[in-house]
Amino acid sequence: MGHYAAGITVVSAFDGGEPVGFTCQSFSSVSMEPQLVSLCVMKTSTTYPRVRQVGRFAVSMLSYDQRWVSDQFAKSGAGKWAGVAWSTSPGRNPWIDGALAWLDCELWAEYDAGDHAIAVGAITALTRNDAAQGDPLLYFQGAYRALRGEV
Ligand SMILES: Cc1cc2nc3c(=O)[nH]c(=O)nc-3n(C[C@H](O)[C@H](O)[C@H](O)COP(=O)(O)O)c2cc1C
Repeated sequence: MGHYAAGITVVSAFDGGEPVGFTCQSFSSVSMEPQLVSLCVMKTSTTYPRVRQVGRFAVSMLSYDQRWVSDQFAKSGAGKWAGVAWSTSPGRNPWIDGALAWLDCELWAEYDAGDHAIAVGAITALTRNDAAQGDPLLYFQGAYRALRGEV
């Protein structure tokens, strides 16, 4: 599966007043009508149950410059938000400043899938960051990658 390149996102929500989030590569587009996306979440995640309880979340599509953000949100425990600038989205989720684009989603369905759960989100807001000029952050064969330009 490491031969399949994918972008990196941070999935985040407010649990009470507290922002929570985790790095997620398994984000995918699912449906146009209604507009649905999916993510696969490890059952050992301590953050996802908090997102599920809230029932809504943001997806921040990271830029190549945000590798450190990806690393920070991939570790369990405190400190994920240290040094990370964030804003409250239209859908009342915390999103990561400087990302290429953001989604707000309502949790639409969840399916059991082995040691993961497949969470399906219905998009309630789509926002492009016109100020972001950077490339997307890609993950391939266990390492971060940049786009190599146009072909
Ligand atoms: C590049 C990268 C991609 C990841 N993608 C996923 C993913 O798609 N699903 C997932 O459950 N965890 C993924 N993780 C791991 C989670 O980010 C990590 O297990 C989680 O943040 C643990 O913290 P938590 O206990 O707060 O949930 C990924 C980690 C990295 C570094």
